This record gives sequence, C-alpha cells and structure tokens, in this order.
Amino acid sequence: MLITKHEDFNYGSIKLFCGSSHHELASQVATFLGVELSQREIVKFPNENIFVKLGESVRGKDVFILQTGCPPVSDNILEMLIMIDAVRRGSAARITLVVPYMPYGRSDKKDQPRVPITARLVADLIQTAGADRYITVDLHAGQIQGFFSIPGDEVTSFHLLSEYFLTKRHEMYNPTIVTADLGFAKKGRNFAARLSMPMAFVEKRRTGNDATSEVMTVIGDVQDRDVVIVDDEISTAGSIKNTVAVVKNHGARDVYVSCTHPVFAGPAIERLRALPIKELITTNTVPIPPERMLSNITVLSVAPLLGEVIMRVHDGRSVGELFNE
Ligand code: R5P
Repeated sequence: MLITKHEDFNYGSIKLFCGSSHHELASQVATFLGVELSQREIVKFPNENIFVKLGESVRGKDVFILQTGCPPVSDNILEMLIMIDAVRRGSAARITLVVPYMPYGRSDKKDQPRVPITARLVADLIQTAGADRYITVDLHAGQIQGFFSIPGDEVTSFHLLSEYFLTKRHEMYNPTIVTADLGFAKKGRNFAARLSMPMAFVEKRRTGNDATSEVMTVIGDVQDRDVVIVDDEISTAGSIKNTVAVVKNHGARDVYVSCTHPVFAGPAIERLRALPIKELITTNTVPIPPERMLSNITVLSVAPLLGEVIMRVHDGRSVGELFNE
C-alpha cells in the first residue's frame, strides 16, 4: 500500500491552530503541510480575561498549536496555555505545542540570590495545561529541555542560516565566524565547521541585570577579514553593538550578523541602524513589525523546517534524520 505523507497513524489527522502571536508563520506552516489553519476565536474581554473557542472539533485529532514568545509576551503565554486547555478539554488525541521562540529562555538559572527560574515555571505551566509534546527552535540553553518531562524536539536554524552563507561565501574576503558570547561557542564552532571558515571569540562580561553588557576582547584573528557574528538572539542589540565595535577595533572589514531570534526589543532597531553591518541574516521565529525592519535585514523562513518536523512527529518518523543525525 502506498503511504502518503498525510497518512494517519495513531493520533488522527493533523489540526493546526495558531494563537495571535504569529499568524503569518502559522499560515506558511499550514501551506507547507497542505492543511487549512483550524478555526478559533480569541477574545479579550473588557476585564482583560482571555477567552478562546475552537471553531471545529478536535476529538481524536493530532493537534498542533503554534504560538511564539513575542510581545505582548505575558498575554501570548496565557493565550497559549488557554488554547492548550481548550484543545485538551475538546478531547484531542495528542497536543503538540509549537513554540518557535521559547519565552523566558534567558531566565534559566538561579545566578543570584532570591531570583526565580522562570524558564522552568513556563515549562511547568505548558505541561500542566496539557501539552503532550513541544517543538521549539534554538533554545537559549539546551539544558532548558530538562525543565520539561514531556518529549520535545528542539530544532536548529543552523542549517538554514549556514546554507545562506554558503551562497554568499564567494563575495566575502577571508570570512571568519565570530561568536558574540562564549556560551554560544559550541554552536558557533559547528557553524564555522559547516562553512569551512576559521573562528574567533569575543569575551563578554555582563554588568547588571538590565541587559547591558561590556565586551572585553577578541580571542582569535579578525584583522583584515570579513566577519560573521553569530548569536542565538538579538534583544536590545547591546551585545551586537559591542561586538561590532570590538571586531572593527581589531581591524575587521565587512561585518555580517546572523541570529535565530530577531527579538529587537527597546533600542535595538536604532542601534542596528547605526551600526556598520553589511547584512543581518535572521529568521521569522518571531515576527518583525514593518517599523522594525531595515533594508540590510534578510529574513529566512523557518516554516519549511517546522512543517517538516510536524509531519515527522505526526507520522512517527525520525526528526534527527532530517539533520543527518
Ligand atoms: C546572551 O546570552 C545571548 O546569547 C545574546 O547575546 C543576548 O541575548 C543578546 O541580548 P542583547 O541583544 O540585549 O544584548
């Protein structure tokens, strides 16, 4: 018997719902899957309580809910939990939360007295609401996976971004990968190996908990080289600003920047506009509002990646295989 990609296995057919956070990405994923986005109504009452009503039956279905951690972050988290609850009470066979940018990922440890570990709290809330699985992209730290006891698939945009740089390589002079954060060194090294480029590190010391940071120095050679600064996310662009300054001071030529999550909070866009960046390559794990776009920003869609993972989860096929693992 010929098995088609949408053959049902244990959990009924696919239903894909999206919250309010990223309709465009959800539509792209739906197109990739060849399904319609499922109907739902989301209302915020005058007392600010959020109400969700599913517009179609989910009984016995394999339900995927896409919601990302962009502003308004608290509302989006609550809406996501309420949607999971509605789907669970609607008797879905299985619920998979697709959260391209995991909110509160940076609050992943008790690194000073009397502070919470909010990433763990968010994981607990997702599980308590009733999700059976999750799919996410490039967590701030891989260890956040351990905050969940349900199975999950953390996929990476690394292949998407590195493929793009393979097409640009011929335009670049002595290209070198630079990590803006020693915590990102391992992923940076994979990036450099994939592109057969040398690597340098920027040693950064954070000051205070208001996302200000101080860049110290470069470990490695960037003199007379085009550099690609890689990081997991750009939030206020403080780290990128300092990293660009330090590589320029060390004689770098053209500066490219690559990150998975374009959070672009607060002063980010003004900072990015003022920086001598030739091109910033990112993805659409969070939406970039038009007023926060710049002409040197290229956005690659993670929809085919998420769509392929959803299909594999649905069919019970290997996800690792997708990355030759
Ligand atoms: C830090 O640990 C991360 O890898 C990023 O460097 C950081 O989240 C970027 O934040 P910002 O853009 O506010 O400096």
